[in-house]
Amino acid sequence: MKSISVDTVRPLLHPDGVLYLDEDYILCSPDIPVHENLLKRLKEWNFKTILIDESVKPDISSLPQNLSEGDVTDVFLEDSTKDIKDKKKTQELYVEFLEKLQQSFDDFTKKNALSVDDIANQAKAIYTALKDYYRFLLQITVLDRNGFPYLTCHSVNTAILSMAIAENMKIPPHRIIEIGMAGLLHEIGMLHQSYVKIQTLERSLTPEEVKTLKAHPVLAYKILKEKGFPANTFMGVLGHHEKENGMGYPQGLKAENIPSTAKIIAAVSVYDALVSSRSFRPAMDGYSAMLELVKEMGKTYHDQVVRQMIAVIGLIPLGTVIEVKNGCYAQVHSLIPEAPKKPQIKVLTSPDKKPLKEHRLVQLAHSPDWELVKALSREETFKLQSQGLIEI
Ligand SMILES: [Fe+2]
Repeated sequence: MKSISVDTVRPLLHPDGVLYLDEDYILCSPDIPVHENLLKRLKEWNFKTILIDESVKPDISSLPQNLSEGDVTDVFLEDSTKDIKDKKKTQELYVEFLEKLQQSFDDFTKKNALSVDDIANQAKAIYTALKDYYRFLLQITVLDRNGFPYLTCHSVNTAILSMAIAENMKIPPHRIIEIGMAGLLHEIGMLHQSYVKIQTLERSLTPEEVKTLKAHPVLAYKILKEKGFPANTFMGVLGHHEKENGMGYPQGLKAENIPSTAKIIAAVSVYDALVSSRSFRPAMDGYSAMLELVKEMGKTYHDQVVRQMIAVIGLIPLGTVIEVKNGCYAQVHSLIPEAPKKPQIKVLTSPDKKPLKEHRLVQLAHSPDWELVKALSREETFKLQSQGLIEI
């Protein structure tokens, strides 16, 4: 056993041996990536050095057979307790966002009332929640939508992801709020009676219906301008169906003429639409939806926006439940920036699909056993949950 400096231990990577706090107390075995919180706590506790036993090397391939309920370090148990609390709070906040926006939509359809301050406050509340519950709030595919209508959920989800991306792009906070407002209201034109009917049709649309549908950004622009919303918000809403190659609508603007807010809303709203089930098609899984965006980078969507989306939610998005080669179900837990296709995953079941009471973290695809086989859609995920096979 030798002594090493805490500063030389890299987070989220497998250590080169067993890490010990002292001669007896094991901190982390080599088959588990070093958690950031572990390093944080060691520093808080003023541990400058720890011990390492390099005679025990990582043996990742043996992991699936070894999974057991007790095979988790104290550090992970502690994190799970905090995770459970944060997840619950995030879900409560999410439902509050849905309720508030639903109320605004109802006030608008019934009384033509739409307050700039009210929508700004809703965007601010989301922005604050993003700071406190970032990792869970970004998991829009697994948040419970509590039976709220598609348009309400879609608008809140678009606001959440757009603001997270804007924050990552270091856009100033007041602009981020305006982007959030655009996310919340980008489909407000769809609340018009003629659109409500079109959206519920289970057949393909007639040319006339398509024409009507394509006018919704202009209608939204007029509404928001008349109600006194910031220009950044109503211009972003107007342009949310424009494409980089000029093939979008309503104006057919090319890349350089599309407002940056519109570019963000465009990519994010398509992602959320793809991962949501509709009357005319089932939901797509988050990984396939991200690949759709990547395929259209530079043509339909601004490439920097798609890159920022990958940086914020990952290529296999946070919260996505996946099946891996060894048979385990797992959930994308956290991102490893230098390895977009290899996030850290929380193992939910044993290889023979038995639910695990305690969850350990491993890195996806660090060995053939842990390669991705399939990402699950929202419906597939909730079905497994209702069958008691996974707990997310
Ligand atoms: Fe739209």
